Amino acid sequence: MLIFLIGFMGAGKSYIARNLSPILKYDFIDMDKHIEENEGMSISQIFELKGEHYFRQLEHNFLIQLNPNQNLIISTGGGVPCFYNNMDIMNEKGLTIYLNRSKKIVLERLLKGQQKRPLIQGMTLIELEKFYDERLALREIYYKQSKLEVDDKIPEEIAELISSL
Ligand code: S3P
Repeated sequence: MLIFLIGFMGAGKSYIARNLSPILKYDFIDMDKHIEENEGMSISQIFELKGEHYFRQLEHNFLIQLNPNQNLIISTGGGVPCFYNNMDIMNEKGLTIYLNRSKKIVLERLLKGQQKRPLIQGMTLIELEKFYDERLALREIYYKQSKLEVDDKIPEEIAELISSL
């Protein structure tokens, strides 16, 4: 089965994927890292040199070519569910899980990890909070189409939930 971890930047999708992997005995792949390796550039460089539209197409192509007949956890980039019919593709190919983390945790992580995220580079905490509120309001419509939603659960709890399905 494919398991897609979905949610806002800083929700800990990569962390959860990495830690779910040995518990469920599934491989995992980080979409952003995969794209960076394929392109030989960081996400920030892709945005700067090729533009966001190009990046969104890479995300979409990645989903289209994914073989659903494998056990794999995929941590998606925060924007993935909101472009093209990506949410439908993910729901058709596997189990989508929305990591709906508390705002405080997300903002703390974003403040630390700003440099590698072109959409929020150089923002103050006040600007970040405004960005978060506005973006999440637009994006939740997509995130909420996930088959499962979890809050601040740890990987072991999420693994249990998946195993109980
Ligand atoms: C983005 C989220 C990032 C990355 C890119 C755009 C977004 O991934 O794909 O910077 O639009 O929310 P993370 O959610 O892993 O930070």
